[in-house]
Amino acid sequence: MEEYILAIDQGTTSTRAILFDQNGQLCYMQQREFKQYFPHSGWVEHDAKEIWNSVVEVVQSLFTIYNIRSSQIKAIGITNQRETTVVWDKTTGEPVYHAIVWQSRQSQDICDQLIKDGYSPMIQDKTGLIINPYFSASKIRWILDHVENMNKDHLLFGTIDTWLIWKLTGGKVHATDYTNASRTLLYNIYDLKWDDDLLKLFDIPKTMLPEVKESSCIYGYSDETLLSGLHFRAPICGVAGDQQASLFGHTCFQSGDIKNTYGTGCFILMNTGEKPVVSHHGLLTTIAWGMNGQMTYALEGSVFIGGSVMQWLRDGLQLFAHVSETEAMAKSLDDNEGVYLVPAFVGLGTPYWDNDVRGTIFGLTRGTTRQHIVRAALESIAYQSRDVIEVMKKEAHLTLTHLSVDGGTTDNEFLMQYQSDLLNIDIMKPQVKETTALGAAYLAGLAIGFYESQEAIKSRHLISKTYHSQMDFQKALQYYQQWQKAIAATCLFK
Ligand code: G3P
Repeated sequence: MEEYILAIDQGTTSTRAILFDQNGQLCYMQQREFKQYFPHSGWVEHDAKEIWNSVVEVVQSLFTIYNIRSSQIKAIGITNQRETTVVWDKTTGEPVYHAIVWQSRQSQDICDQLIKDGYSPMIQDKTGLIINPYFSASKIRWILDHVENMNKDHLLFGTIDTWLIWKLTGGKVHATDYTNASRTLLYNIYDLKWDDDLLKLFDIPKTMLPEVKESSCIYGYSDETLLSGLHFRAPICGVAGDQQASLFGHTCFQSGDIKNTYGTGCFILMNTGEKPVVSHHGLLTTIAWGMNGQMTYALEGSVFIGGSVMQWLRDGLQLFAHVSETEAMAKSLDDNEGVYLVPAFVGLGTPYWDNDVRGTIFGLTRGTTRQHIVRAALESIAYQSRDVIEVMKKEAHLTLTHLSVDGGTTDNEFLMQYQSDLLNIDIMKPQVKETTALGAAYLAGLAIGFYESQEAIKSRHLISKTYHSQMDFQKALQYYQQWQKAIAATCLFK
């Protein structure tokens, strides 16, 4: 009977359970969306119990629909939306508040005060991150400040991986991996420990924090009774935040290997090898994975509005009915004819980190059509990605030959070709689209010998399509320079 690794991919809007075989092929998948809570403007929350239920549901339906026996599951890998913060009572198992999602801005004031008090350099030196409500620390502080009637001695903190490990092991294991720890703003990525100075600064008791483990090792075993009647006991032995898991799934194992996930936003990570690279231009330094006693680091840049600009054009401006129409619309023009759209709807991420700037469109004429706006929106995804990659190349002193890509918006051939033209490198789309889950499966499979080695994984990694640059380099540069002017003008308008 075929044997599988079960990958649980717990993302911001949906939860997936996927079975991968020994060749790294995706065999079966189930997915569920779950509720998003927006209690106030700028706040985004999830119910951690609903997240857990969504995991149980996707695993159960995977087993039922495809008639899978529990003995076929050799290991479990977990990958997750990062930074999202859960605090729960270890005696009751009840979360004391909703999970505060990475996008949520409710702890902005806490961060503003720390920036004002001059803590930015110290925090970057220890964590590789900037002070921003994006990361977990200020979210934990916010919960401790705002929730009443909780027994502070019983509290546990976790990102979603930790919450799921705790639930899956029946409350036996409270742990996280290096990648998730490195996104909390509390973990020292050089000393590899929870940092006492930062815990003091945020006034967070160390007793709340999970043990930090390697990304590919045994965390514990799924409790047989938990996944409602599946009697399914398997080692949980691959854990990584979703963007790092995607880097691993792309087999970006060498220094200089880089991937871009084109989802709602764009997350670009470059493997920088065994030593962390410190950024002076707004990139984040983060842990890519920790395995076999060795740490691999990455530089990361995030674009806040990527594919979601197309949803705005569809739902807000009603320029088309289906996102699939946009490729033909963009291709119907030979040129952008000077129209540039800066989708700074929620500010700008890397390398600008400007929360106050808002979106703009430049270059409108009487002849501007829907096609121009659509093309400008697609181009904006490529320009913003180049903004990040330019800084990465400079700071890591590395030359790029190709960019590995995944995520829903990679189905748009116009965008992929334009990205290749703009960066003047090859864009490579892997055969397995679910790269994030695949990364978690690889990490789990490597821990138990289901996958032999990283080299063996790499040798089986298949590319479904490569885009080669076709545009004259000077022309691509001109487009990019116009974009830079559009960004500069946008930043002035506040
Ligand atoms: O840092 C946030 C990121 O991990 C969220 O990823 O794919 O759930 O939007 P995703």
